[in-house]
Amino acid sequence: MERLVRVAREARVNAYAPYSGYLVGAALEDEEGRIFAGVNVENVSYGACICAERSAVTRMVTEGGRSARALALVTVDGGVPCGICLQVLTELCEDAASFRIIIADEEETIREHKLSELLPYAFESQKVQRT
Ligand code: THU
Repeated sequence: MERLVRVAREARVNAYAPYSGYLVGAALEDEEGRIFAGVNVENVSYGACICAERSAVTRMVTEGGRSARALALVTVDGGVPCGICLQVLTELCEDAASFRIIIADEEETIREHKLSELLPYAFESQKVQRT
């Protein structure tokens, strides 16, 4: 897990956050143990901003990964992933009850949660089926 936090910390320096100044680095581990880094990418059209977690998810999916098992997130103050990112992670994780979310600030790892703790009622519907 040390490694996951290190990858997120190293990626964070590449975050593109000229509007908020809030740099976020993420590292996502898939079912094969591969690690994908991501950073937040902001835009002058604020709604177009992409969070670091979803940057990492798109990289995993691009490489054929479909099932993540852990995420490390590094920010200045140990922020928790936003609700949209928690929903996206839930879709593409092995098991939300065992998926580890490791939260760190600039100095150290602060705390760890399971994905299902942070989003216990993720959206799902019998009416919207996978094909
Ligand atoms: N941000 C993330 O990258 N991940 C989150 O889970 C929450 C927020 C980014 C979006 C924006 O670029 C900046 O942090 C401030 O909200």
